[in-house]
Amino acid sequence: MSFVMNAWYAACWSDEVKQGEMFHRTLLDEEIVLYRNAAGQPVALRDRCPHRFVPLHMGRLRGDVIECGYHGLQFDCSGACVKNPHGDGKIPAAAKVKSYPVVERHTLLWVWMGEPSAADPSLIPDYSLLDNKDGFVTSRGYIVMNAGYELMGENLLDLSHVAYLHEGLLGTPGMASALPELREEGPRRLWVDRWMPNVEVPKVFDMLFRQDGNPVDAWQNMRFDAPSNFLVDAGVHAPGESRERGAGYFGIHILTPQTNGTTHYHFAAARPQGQALDAQTAEQLSQLRRFVFEEQDKPIVDAQQAAIGDADFWSLKPVLLAIDAGPVRMRRMLERMRKDEAAQRQGEACRV
Ligand code: FES
Ligand SMILES: [Fe+2]
Repeated sequence: MSFVMNAWYAACWSDEVKQGEMFHRTLLDEEIVLYRNAAGQPVALRDRCPHRFVPLHMGRLRGDVIECGYHGLQFDCSGACVKNPHGDGKIPAAAKVKSYPVVERHTLLWVWMGEPSAADPSLIPDYSLLDNKDGFVTSRGYIVMNAGYELMGENLLDLSHVAYLHEGLLGTPGMASALPELREEGPRRLWVDRWMPNVEVPKVFDMLFRQDGNPVDAWQNMRFDAPSNFLVDAGVHAPGESRERGAGYFGIHILTPQTNGTTHYHFAAARPQGQALDAQTAEQLSQLRRFVFEEQDKPIVDAQQAAIGDADFWSLKPVLLAIDAGPVRMRRMLERMRKDEAAQRQGEACRV
């Protein structure tokens, strides 16, 4: 499987990259080193010295410059070699490290893995609700899934699984039968909405709502920004009531391929403006979500990947159900993006 390259991918929470330190991570099968220049701006370079391929993060940061730990070549923020301490000090033309466009936004560092001239920051998905400082964001986490990002994307675009995998916590049996409503918005965005009237209240919403265990009308509206960024608006209100009189939260789910079969998964929850939680409920919500992702979604999706192995997904002839409309649309969207990129690369190669 190839990846969609011309896209912004979340590399890490932005506070993980501290002044004076190097942070390294594999994104889309490429080793990347991140650090901050003297002005505090993030820098992303290929984590591999062009001399003998030693990871640069094993070297030293000298101001804005990385010095390779093996033979001391130095590289600046653009990846250019600025010092060869050996012999006449001449710098070979090939002594260059790939650099990546990187933008700090919505408390994350976003790296553009494809053609640098196409890196338009306006394509970074809107997670401005993470910027709020007054208790709006209630939890934040990160795990590595031992599964490709498409499997995890399917999990998020088919939330009928809450009725089974997260029964009692995020879902109840009555929530299984709701069918998804799909809406595409431009070439990179898809909405998958589910409406579940008069269902037993799951624990998470009972906690946030009336704490009386009575039935509710529930919604899950998922926004998908291809290739791998998700935001769900989920909540409940009393049957027949208006949404303003209900309660809910936004679930932020941001996936970045690490390799073909593993995925960085950043998640957070945020309450609507003006509805900050008390500290105890916020902590409970945070713990519940972490449990659900780490102990319920992760084992299932990891096991799915292990069962599929390297096989092409469609070659296995998966059974298709009505609930798969979102996942199938996502797979088609990604396929189209990969094909478009391949055609573009081929076109460019022909022109050369
Ligand atoms: S491996 Fe980096 S300078 Fe030799
Ligand atoms: Fe789940």
